Amino acid sequence: MPLPTAELHLHIEGTLEPELAFALAERNGVTLPYADTAALREAYRFSDLQSFLDLYYALMTVLRTPEDFTALADAYLERAAAQGVRHAEIFFDPQAHTSRGVPIGTVVEGLSASLDRAEERYGISTRLILCFLRDESAESALATLEAAKPYLDRITGVGLDSAEVGHPPAKFRAVYEEAARLGLRRVAHAGEEGPASYVREALDVLGVERIDHGLRCMEDPELVERLVRERIPLTLCPLSNVRLRVIDTLADHPLRAMLDAGLRVTVNSDDPAYFGGYVGDNYDGVRDALGLGEEQLRTLARHSFEAAFLDDDEPRRARYLAEVEAHTF
Ligand code: HPA
Ligand code: ZN
Repeated sequence: MPLPTAELHLHIEGTLEPELAFALAERNGVTLPYADTAALREAYRFSDLQSFLDLYYALMTVLRTPEDFTALADAYLERAAAQGVRHAEIFFDPQAHTSRGVPIGTVVEGLSASLDRAEERYGISTRLILCFLRDESAESALATLEAAKPYLDRITGVGLDSAEVGHPPAKFRAVYEEAARLGLRRVAHAGEEGPASYVREALDVLGVERIDHGLRCMEDPELVERLVRERIPLTLCPLSNVRLRVIDTLADHPLRAMLDAGLRVTVNSDDPAYFGGYVGDNYDGVRDALGLGEEQLRTLARHSFEAAFLDDDEPRRARYLAEVEAHTF
């Protein structure tokens, strides 16, 4: 039995495996510039975040219909369940679809058709988090939130992703204010490629409750102290960090040092189809590379459920936490 965990940092478009990409391309009459899945996998050698994003946005053009998004989420949930995921807070990038003529309703309704059955089929509770692309304008983010208004009963929160450097959190002050007014939870990617100051800004200007990645906070001891004091969860994605060259090898990952510092770190897969593994593979990777023991692994899993947006269902959170305590390695 895998360690039960909540996955809090997962881009649904980043779960598009080559086989499904080719199947959807054929169904939708899209021509991919790769001969086959092996040739596509060859392209999964990234030098930085942007080199990954270029392929990520290119490949998701095969997603066109509600059924495509349903199939995408079903495939993720099945793999996630096999690796211990009990609760998933799933990011999606509406602007990456609306910009090519796929309405936000197609995306939300397609994903929801899968998520509505996730508990019964896969034993996974779910939430949806709408992410704004930070390399697009603040006006585009506001228009996206406006377009999402008919679907807010299905959306738990907002996030911020895509190319980080040069697009500081403060650019999105207005849209996060509006999100807060609408009662949405707030998270943001910060401190992946961008500096520690972006983590601070995401907290101070955007009012985020969790930081996605955040590993560069380790360059700023005062910030670390604050994150510990304010119990801000950080959603780490170790295999992603290696594949996007944020660090050289898993053995160089600061996760252990972050745990030792008292940070509320969690383990997640980010874009598992591209980065070589789902959440259990990320746990196994850091366990082996950093020599984590059972109590440290249990702490990581406990953090994930404590940091989950389950405030509307505390009995469920308690059940998940009890599963973590009862887990035998
Ligand atoms: N960072 C920023 N944007 C992203 C990522 C990521 O790791 N994955 C998908 N969009
Ligand atoms: Zn991410």
